[in-house]
Amino acid sequence: MNHSLQCAKCGESYPVFDQRYRCNCGGTLDVVHDHSALSLTTEILDARRNSNDPIDRSGVWRFRELILPLSDAELRKAVVTRGEGNTHLYDAPTMATSIGVAQVHLKHEGENPTGSFKDRGMTAGITMARHFGMKQGACASTGNTSASMASYAARCGMGAVVFIPEGNIAYGKLSQALAYGAKTIQINGDFDDAMALVQDLCGSEGIYLLNSVNPFRIEGQKAIGFEIMQDLNWNPPDWIVLPGGNLGNNTAIAKGLQEIHALGLIERLPRIAVVQAAGANPLYRAWTQDRDVEPITAATIATAIKIGAPVSWRKSVRGLRALDGVVTEVNDNEIMDAKALVDASGIGAEPASCATLAGLKRLVHEGVIDRDARVVGVLTGHLLKDPDVVVGYHTGSLDGIDTHRANAPVQAPADVDAIREILRQ
Ligand code: F0G
Repeated sequence: MNHSLQCAKCGESYPVFDQRYRCNCGGTLDVVHDHSALSLTTEILDARRNSNDPIDRSGVWRFRELILPLSDAELRKAVVTRGEGNTHLYDAPTMATSIGVAQVHLKHEGENPTGSFKDRGMTAGITMARHFGMKQGACASTGNTSASMASYAARCGMGAVVFIPEGNIAYGKLSQALAYGAKTIQINGDFDDAMALVQDLCGSEGIYLLNSVNPFRIEGQKAIGFEIMQDLNWNPPDWIVLPGGNLGNNTAIAKGLQEIHALGLIERLPRIAVVQAAGANPLYRAWTQDRDVEPITAATIATAIKIGAPVSWRKSVRGLRALDGVVTEVNDNEIMDAKALVDASGIGAEPASCATLAGLKRLVHEGVIDRDARVVGVLTGHLLKDPDVVVGYHTGSLDGIDTHRANAPVQAPADVDAIREILRQ
């Protein structure tokens, strides 16, 4: 089989198992699969969903021929899985009505083992690290990647080093990195500083880099798109909407969908909409001004996507073009309003995830997304990742945020009559 790594910038090819994250020209790399001998059908993939084989039961490894260029035996030897994926695709009619669009489904990636979509890329990244015999992995993170890496590394006894921006990471995520035993280095800088440092250090220290600049991470994340298609009986929606930070996830979903489209597993491609926070919008600026991405200093309440120099922007733009995509931006008030709605619907998600709904609302109001569209929104992280923001919102203590939908706790004496009075109000 003739798999390879290919530069997204200059097109240069390398052997697929070359341990490199970038081309000699500095561009990021893609895994190019040789699918010439592949005969995969939707029936095979649907049958695996009912199998008891742990590899089949993972919502990533069910699609294994499309993920890593490893043989079945190599994969089974190296794989580190927590049964990731298999997240719910919720029908969200109240959200559809409130936004004014025909159908909204929400793919809740917060239901992954460590509470975010990162587990899909991480099972692939850590499996590759084991295949390569690496003893230590590292990543820079706004929180979710580090939580996921710490967990998957711990599962196979691999060392984990995480670089996080001090004071800019939600406590749920920091707790996970510490609890799973990762060496946690708080950088006196932002995510973009941490990202630059980790790329440097991994090269010089022989540590495996597990950010989404690692092309195998992207391969695992493609499974979000595959699973959405499978959830919908291989009948693609009109749109997939998701938040964008480092821009690995939209890159992955677009790449995967193009691949299964070429294989005939889906008949047409959905369109894709990437939503950025207005204070962390380098892709939005570049897209609307038709130019390359230039780094900015990021600021948003949605710390997961507080990123000013996205690593995967070139691949992201390529995927957007291939799927006739769009990019939009939403401010922190819009994000928190949308979050209050998602939370109160009983589903709940962290702030960055809710940029999805805020962006969908904007795109429908602008007429970019038709009112009769079938839309899948991706919720990328669990509500409990960032409890401080939730309590802050409902108690009205978040700076600069209007709390239209606050559900503040009621103070009461420990007295039955007083409480009865409160309940009857
Ligand atoms: N939503 C959540 C909850 C995230 O944690 C991230 C990224 C994104 C959206 C954006 O995805 O980077 O692929 O465009 N979090 C990274 C991290 C950066 O370190 O956990 P992206």
